[in-house]
Amino acid sequence: MSLEGRDIISIRDFTKAELERMLSAADLMEPLAKRGSEILKGKIMATLFFEPSTRTRLSFESAMNRLGGSSIGFAEPGGTSVQKGENLTDTIKVVENYADVLVVRHPLEGASRLAGEVANVPVINAGSGSEEHPTQAILDIYTMKREFGSIDGLKVAMVGDLRYGRTVHSLAYALSLYKNTKLFLISPELLRMRREVLEDIGKNIEVEEGRDLKKILPEVDVIYMTRIQKERFADPAEYESVKGSYRLTRADLKEAKEGAIVMHPLPRVDEVDYDVDSTVHARYFKQVWYGLLVRMGLLALVLGAV
Ligand code: NCD
Repeated sequence: MSLEGRDIISIRDFTKAELERMLSAADLMEPLAKRGSEILKGKIMATLFFEPSTRTRLSFESAMNRLGGSSIGFAEPGGTSVQKGENLTDTIKVVENYADVLVVRHPLEGASRLAGEVANVPVINAGSGSEEHPTQAILDIYTMKREFGSIDGLKVAMVGDLRYGRTVHSLAYALSLYKNTKLFLISPELLRMRREVLEDIGKNIEVEEGRDLKKILPEVDVIYMTRIQKERFADPAEYESVKGSYRLTRADLKEAKEGAIVMHPLPRVDEVDYDVDSTVHARYFKQVWYGLLVRMGLLALVLGAV
């Protein structure tokens, strides 16, 4: 199976076999990440970031560099006229002449999909509004696979902002490809996962919604904490009413399963106490390393190098 030339816009565009292919490509990348490689020599990646980012952009750039390729691009927080669909189209039509692959992050939902339709080179969605963040979900799944050996049968709690957080949407779709996983969706009422996503994943896997993290802590293998997405609230008073809803502490984790792991897409604000970092459960920094391998693998796949 080849993923050469494919766009990576939504997890829903891929089968389980294709997702597994991406995970095995990441495995192949570990030795290359350590010693460097030239498999993408001469290839250029353009990063078009219309919204702030640190790790996603640096992770893609590092991935490209470690494979011998190079990168160009921009990171303009809160870009102005570029938020209009027409101008995005023009930007893409220009930049595709300069690069072999485009990595796009945009505050508007649908922007990456549009970019993919316009561009003649592969487009990778690095976050589209509160809709999706597929490469984060692939690295989340990869983290679970590396830590537990397999995804099947895992019980995963997603905690925090399930309404505006895009990583949780992509991750929920990805987990729903693994039939006997169970998902606990823990959030304040206001930040419950969107109904359409819930309906889709509910067809394939067991899903339980709730508000109390402590109650389900002894049951789950993965505690996936997320930041309340302050910048995506239309009403600041709404944000004030839910901020600080969850704060996972070292003491809380005494109730967790022995082998349970804590994950987080980062950046963290106050939802995971710093004293969790030194527990046996913390995996959020390890997740960053796995993310590098996944992005190396994805670039190599869409550019036809593996
Ligand atoms: C996430 C994002 O941008 O959606 N960050 C990331 O890419 N790891 C999560 C967040 O901003 O809370």
